[in-house]
Amino acid sequence: MDWGERYEQGIARMDETHREFVEHYNTLAAAEPGNFLACFDAFIAHTEAHFDQENRWMDVLDFPPCHRGEHDRVLDVMREVRRRVEQGDAFLGRRLLEELHPWFDHHVDTMDAALAFYLKETGFDPDTCMGKTAHAPGDAAHLAGGDR
Ligand SMILES: [Fe+2]
Ligand SMILES: [Fe+2]
Repeated sequence: MDWGERYEQGIARMDETHREFVEHYNTLAAAEPGNFLACFDAFIAHTEAHFDQENRWMDVLDFPPCHRGEHDRVLDVMREVRRRVEQGDAFLGRRLLEELHPWFDHHVDTMDAALAFYLKETGFDPDTCMGKTAHAPGDAAHLAGGDR
C-alpha cells in the first residue's frame, strides 16, 4: 500500500494516524511467518488507538453512530483473524490484508472524509477536542447519511 495525497484529509492528526496505518499494513504484509503475529498485534493496537481517536472526536461532536459501528466491525474481524492465524490459519491473515486495502481506501474516501469535513467546518481542534463554532446536536447527521 503506497501512502499518497489521495489519503490526505487536511486534518494533521488524522493524516498522521492514517500514514501510520499504511506503515503498519506494509510491515505486516512483509512480515516473515515467525514474526507475523507480533506485527499483527502491533497493527491491531495501532488500529484500536486510531479508531478510539476518531470515536472521541465523534462523541464530542454528537456524530451519527454508523462510523463508530464500522470501526467496531473491522476491529472484530481483525481480532478474529488474529485468533485464527494463531491457530495455524496463515492463509486467512493474507486474505485479511487483501481485503483491508480496499476497505481502507473506501473508508477514508467516505466516512473519514465526512468526519474531516465536519471537523474543519466546526473549527474543531483535535488536540483539545474543542470546537470553535457552536453546533446543534445532530447537525452532522446529513454528512454520514444519518438523515436517510
Ligand atoms: Fe481513520
Ligand atoms: Fe474512521
